[in-house]
Amino acid sequence: MKVIDAADQARFVAAAAEVVRQRAAARPDLAMTMPTGRTPIPLYRHLVALGERGAFSLDHATIFMLDEYLDLPTFPDGSFVAFLREHLGPLVFNGRTTVHELAPREDAQDLRAYDALLDGVGGLDLAIVGVGRNGHVGFNEPGSRDDERTHVVELSADTVEANFARCASRATRAITVGLADLRRAKSVLVLVSGPGKEQVVTQLVDRRRLEEVPVTHLVDHPDVTVVVDRSSLGSRTDEISRGRATQSKGELTRDEGHREAVEWCPPH
Ligand code: GLP
Repeated sequence: MKVIDAADQARFVAAAAEVVRQRAAARPDLAMTMPTGRTPIPLYRHLVALGERGAFSLDHATIFMLDEYLDLPTFPDGSFVAFLREHLGPLVFNGRTTVHELAPREDAQDLRAYDALLDGVGGLDLAIVGVGRNGHVGFNEPGSRDDERTHVVELSADTVEANFARCASRATRAITVGLADLRRAKSVLVLVSGPGKEQVVTQLVDRRRLEEVPVTHLVDHPDVTVVVDRSSLGSRTDEISRGRATQSKGELTRDEGHREAVEWCPPH
């Protein structure tokens, strides 16, 4: 496991982008996951800018959504597919790249069909994942098993709080690609950024598997790179005041006195 402890956001983006660039150069038709969340936004902005200059392309890639909310009253607003369209539009929602979306419904046939799509490309070449503050990857929450494939999950109270605490609409269930597919990806890129994740970083740097911390189920992977934005591990309010967590849709709410003060809420 390689850990890149980036001192600031620019170094974090550069390190993560270099992993993506190398994997895409080695295999332009790679199959990959691209996560949602605040963490990858600056990386996506960078990759989209490179794409616009003709310096990077995912035209031949196949993108698999990593997860999606279920029962979101505002769907598609606030959904993960809307997020990816907003942040990766020109790079992957361009009519050239293949994108596999997760339909927001609980349907066993759909889930197995998604697994079949993953199998059809020989599994993921690159799994890019973010990390929740409780160590979840995708929506593989604490207690997830290594043999799970695409499945429906009940979100943990901590995840609902982290994602929706001050939002009018919320989801408490989701679909996620399972740890089995993340663990058998040829390469894994773990992005860690944001307040409340100091403990996860410490656990990852220890390189020990902890049953209750799903991201540590990836530490024994033969090709895993962890990139940490060390400067982000403080308060989210600080981050916003530096203009770093930007969302052009939805609503950023702010409460100066609270450490986890800012969320992206679905519009309502
Ligand atoms: C979300 C997503 C994850 C994401 C994580 C971290 O709930 N399911 O895919 O990596 O939580 O989000 P953030 O980057 O906003 O901290």
